[in-house]
Amino acid sequence: MLGANCTSNPPILNGSSGGGYVTNLGGVNCYVTGSPLLIFVILLASDFYGYQAPLLRKLADKVGTKGYHVVVPDFFNGDPFDPNNASRPQDIWLKDHPPEKGIETAKVVVEALKHKGAYAIGAAGFCWGGKPAVDLGNSGHTKVTVLLHPAFVTNNDIERTNISIAILGGQNDTITPPSQIKQYEEILNAKKPEVESLVKIFPGVSHGWTLRYDPNDPEAVKDAEKAHEIMLDWFDKHLKKH
Ligand SMILES: *[C@@H]1O[C@H](CO)[C@@H](O)[C@H](O)[C@H]1NC(C)=O
Ligand SMILES: *[C@@H]1O[C@H](CO)[C@@H](O)[C@H](O)[C@H]1NC(C)=O
Ligand SMILES: *[C@@H]1O[C@H](CO)[C@@H](O)[C@H](O)[C@H]1NC(C)=O
Ligand SMILES: *[C@@H]1O[C@H](CO)[C@@H](O)[C@H](O)[C@H]1NC(C)=O
Repeated sequence: MLGANCTSNPPILNGSSGGGYVTNLGGVNCYVTGSPLLIFVILLASDFYGYQAPLLRKLADKVGTKGYHVVVPDFFNGDPFDPNNASRPQDIWLKDHPPEKGIETAKVVVEALKHKGAYAIGAAGFCWGGKPAVDLGNSGHTKVTVLLHPAFVTNNDIERTNISIAILGGQNDTITPPSQIKQYEEILNAKKPEVESLVKIFPGVSHGWTLRYDPNDPEAVKDAEKAHEIMLDWFDKHLKKH
């Protein structure tokens, strides 16, 4: 179970929010935004609220203004986690949507993008999406990874990582706490000195802070935007050099 921290500030899903459009890539519905050119492509792997979360789409649009073609897959095929459904708590929902299976959906989307001529693809994963994001890199589908308050990412996943990776954790995250984030960092430093990596723990923020912040709270917005900037810088430095 992910705990209460994962269900605070659930988004009000809105399939028509954002400046992009929804299209089908290899059989998977995806929100697509940003540059129409598929030179530098970023796949955003959502948390368990899925691809209709307005703040996720807003972030996708922002990434899109920086010259990226941005793709946000519907990993849950129209069935995101619903925190109001008492008869289907997280542990039950997760049985239908195990994070380890996310790679299957992600692979199909990446292959469809490559078929359309995508040149260099990076992936960012949030919470549940951290697992498919790291798996994409470890299976050779993407060139750069960013993990933001990831969940379900094992030390072994990090040990297998051979591509540039940034990991952003929160001081007050109880799901992937700083102690775990530090283990990722130690693994990267000790076993992967040749891999370009950045591990950062943001002070005073909880799990989900980059996506489920209160847009009316200026401090929360600032904390989220700081993480967004670091994610963008990482892609600018490591994806655009390809
Ligand atoms: C959903 O998003 C659309 C497009 O941005 C907006 O017009 C509409 O008001 C939103 N609906 C809700 C319930 O927020
Ligand atoms: C809640 O989950 C149950 C079990 O999966 C499902 O049958 C039901 O349709 C869901 N209720 C709502 C309101 O989505
Ligand atoms: C990462 O690189 C190591 C050493 O070159 C190699 O043995 C391993 O198979 C690679 N891992 C992946 C997931 O490609
Ligand atoms: C975050 O954790 C620190 C250190 O334990 C604590 O001092 C601070 O009050 C916490 N902040 C929030 C917002 O929970």
